[in-house]
Amino acid sequence: MAGVTDRPFRMLCKRMGAGYAVSEMVAANPKLWGTDKSRRRTDHAGEVAPIAVQIAGADPAMMADAARYNVDRGAQIIDINMGCPAKKVCNAAAGSALLADEALVARIVDAVVHAVTVPVTLKIRTGPAPHSRNAITIARIAQDAGIAALAVHGRTRACLFVGPVEFDTVRAVKRAVRIPVFANGDIVTPRQARDVLAYTGVDALMIGRAAQGRPWIFREIAHYLETGRALAPPSVAEARSVILEHLDDHYTFYGEELGVRIARKHLHWYSASLPGALALRAQRRAVDGFFARLALESERLPRADEALRNDRPAATRAARPPAFELEALAA
Ligand SMILES: Cc1cc2nc3c(=O)[nH]c(=O)nc-3n(C[C@H](O)[C@H](O)[C@H](O)COP(=O)(O)O)c2cc1C
Repeated sequence: MAGVTDRPFRMLCKRMGAGYAVSEMVAANPKLWGTDKSRRRTDHAGEVAPIAVQIAGADPAMMADAARYNVDRGAQIIDINMGCPAKKVCNAAAGSALLADEALVARIVDAVVHAVTVPVTLKIRTGPAPHSRNAITIARIAQDAGIAALAVHGRTRACLFVGPVEFDTVRAVKRAVRIPVFANGDIVTPRQARDVLAYTGVDALMIGRAAQGRPWIFREIAHYLETGRALAPPSVAEARSVILEHLDDHYTFYGEELGVRIARKHLHWYSASLPGALALRAQRRAVDGFFARLALESERLPRADEALRNDRPAATRAARPPAFELEALAA
């Protein structure tokens, strides 16, 4: 998932029980490979196998080159993106837009499968639009080309992320081919995971947004599937250490400045469902607004002597021994 499944998050998900985690998509266009973003997306240092890299593009020869390039950089599985609904992926009509051109799909999967010796997988939606669902045709094209596994997000491109997931179509795809099929879309709880597996008969489940802020969902699902019993959610102490470890890894990966900026969304996801998170965010917004208004009036904070004149109580507080502050906080 672009902007989400960076290396630190993939490693965390794997530690939490995910059997497989695919990289953010890498553009097939070699002009984009030199950017910092692409370099980070092809950095797999320390990553636990299998290292799977998703490539996106529309030109078969470029996609083949991109597959080779990523295998040379450690990819053990290449995944082709035909699932992204964005109008343009990396400046080309790629992603799920390709589903409307079955001949081009065949040329792309064929070129990539022949370019590398590692398994090549494919991620699709159920078709371009509800009146033109062609997932079964695409699945057969993929199988004939030697695609090793197929992940199906059970919505058409036109449906974006709206409306029910078509597990009927996913089931029909599974029945139509012999290669492993993964079901994807709106799976959030261990019970849903069990039901989708049972209904569709697929070989694996792919979890996206439900892992955001809840990476332990993978072990919860695995435990439920194995035992039929719900695993207790992590203790607050464990969640705290998981989140702090994730942040440390994240800051090391991105560097301080970018790391802090990119970590915000993870912190939002981690805290979104917790009591107090709303108050916390309202407080943050208030502080943000306060300083934005202040910046209109002055460029710098007051000097110590000016602060003393402006705010007697604050100055008095500062004069108190630090232990007093600690006691007040503890009270
Ligand atoms: C922020 C975001 C980024 C995504 N990026 C990609 C991507 O790069 N490649 C891809 O195949 N799917 C991408 N997806 C789609 C997801 O892989 C998944 O198919 C979709 O979110 C439905 O699954 P879910 O309901 O479990 O999230 C993205 C989804 C989101 C929300």
